[in-house]
Amino acid sequence: MDKDYNKILAPSILAGNHAHLAESLKLAEDDGRRWIHLDIMDGHFVPNLSFGPQTVADLRKGSGLFFDVHLMLDQPNLYLEPFIEAGSDLISIHLEPQYDHRKAINTIKSSGIQAGLVINPATEIDGLIPFLSEVDLILLMTVNPGFGGQSFMESVMEKARKLSQIREDEGLQFLLEVDGGVGPEHVDLCLDAGVDVLVAGTAYYKRDAAGRRDFAQIVGEC
Ligand code: DX5
Ligand code: ZN
Repeated sequence: MDKDYNKILAPSILAGNHAHLAESLKLAEDDGRRWIHLDIMDGHFVPNLSFGPQTVADLRKGSGLFFDVHLMLDQPNLYLEPFIEAGSDLISIHLEPQYDHRKAINTIKSSGIQAGLVINPATEIDGLIPFLSEVDLILLMTVNPGFGGQSFMESVMEKARKLSQIREDEGLQFLLEVDGGVGPEHVDLCLDAGVDVLVAGTAYYKRDAAGRRDFAQIVGEC
């Protein structure tokens, strides 16, 4: 299929060097990437911890990348302000926990940045439908969130196909993003299903510069 410069490869710095995160960002920026994916984990919604708004704010000072912030939190509504203040460009929140999703989306958007809604592999798309005209991005997890380095779940592409069909039928604008286990071998499958943004942690940072360039070229972002 035709490659499209509008497609985005978003490296996940979860797979970067956490003693030198700014260098991991710079590596992606020097490679020509436009987005960086930042995973925030609370040890409750997912069984792991990562980093908080102070880290995002400090990284923001030295980077012009688009900050794609993925909140894996039980109560993301309680932490929106610090991540907005930290300089996020887009904040994605999960559909699964109980909180006022619409209010949280409105809080994010009224601050002038973009809002995304995320579902885990086991969550159906039905709960997303009322929000499709309100969000800038839908993130489909292709692993159970919490850790990098897991295997890509191809079965999630069925949800991507359905959502991209709805988007086309209803003339909606949201971007479709996938996250988890994504490598160059999955790019065609994702693009064929209508995905716009591919997050890659391990498969990006484990490669040398030539490998990362090849990966970006397959996505079409080069
Ligand atoms: C998983 C995170 C992902 C992760 C992806 O919980 O949301 O963003 O960093 O890493 P890989 O590409 O290694 O699966
Ligand atoms: Zn993520």
